[in-house]
Amino acid sequence: MNAIPLVVIGAGGFGRETLDVVGANNADPSSPTFKIIGVLDSNPSERNLARLSKRDVLYLGSELSWLETSEPMNYVIGIGSPRTRELVDQRFRAAGWSAATLVHPTAVIGTDCEIGEGSVICGGVHVSTNVTIGRQAHLNPNSTIGHDSFIGHYVSVNPGAVVSGDVRVEDRTLIGASATILQGLRVGAGAVVAAAACVTRDVQSGTVVRGVPAK
Ligand SMILES: CC(C)(COP(=O)(O)OP(=O)(O)OC[C@H]1O[C@@H](n2cnc3c(N)ncnc32)[C@H](O)[C@@H]1OP(=O)(O)O)[C@@H](O)C(=O)NCCC(=O)NCCS
Repeated sequence: MNAIPLVVIGAGGFGRETLDVVGANNADPSSPTFKIIGVLDSNPSERNLARLSKRDVLYLGSELSWLETSEPMNYVIGIGSPRTRELVDQRFRAAGWSAATLVHPTAVIGTDCEIGEGSVICGGVHVSTNVTIGRQAHLNPNSTIGHDSFIGHYVSVNPGAVVSGDVRVEDRTLIGASATILQGLRVGAGAVVAAAACVTRDVQSGTVVRGVPAK
């Protein structure tokens, strides 16, 4: 099978972690799943450009320049901010590009799960059974999603966060590192759950909650 050509968007921390997820999918050098074309970023820092060059990944330039000049390709977005990710996704989708979905081989995905297009599931993630994950969601390393839960579009679940069973996390929500959402709750669209918070009640859309119990 020919390797799928892939452009990664974002040279920052999560962009390069995404490169690692791609690399883990290419573990067999005789039949790699993806061929990394390079990384697009509209405003990369010098430090991040040096980090890309250190790992021999080509920096391709800004997103807009590629959208104007290149034929549509496959892309994956390595940008942690849900809203920014949504805007970038809309642009590339409108230009006819195709979002690739990445699952690290050490992630465990249970039965009856759906993973939306463009999502990135990192190493050590555990997704239980009957879970729906929307478009362009990011599940960071060692996060867990409980049974019968729903994770909306453009949601970011940061490292080590625990979403319990039967939870509804709506679009563009950010769940901070090591936060816990107790079972059966709803986290409204665009909400932010702070790192290490424990959510014991529903969270209203567009609000930020922090602490234990989260307020
Ligand atoms: C909650 C959060 C969104 C707040 O961001 P912010 O608005 O920029 O907050 P600030 O840093 O200005 O801090 C505002 C106040 O909240 C407190 N605070 C910040 N993060 C907190 C947290 N996780 N839990 C409890 N309190 C927190 C600060 O101490 C500060 O308190 P003060 O006003 O009494 O001094 C952010 O701190 C957070 O937790 N983001 C998730 C981070 C994460 O998951 N990182 C991993 C990336 S891979």
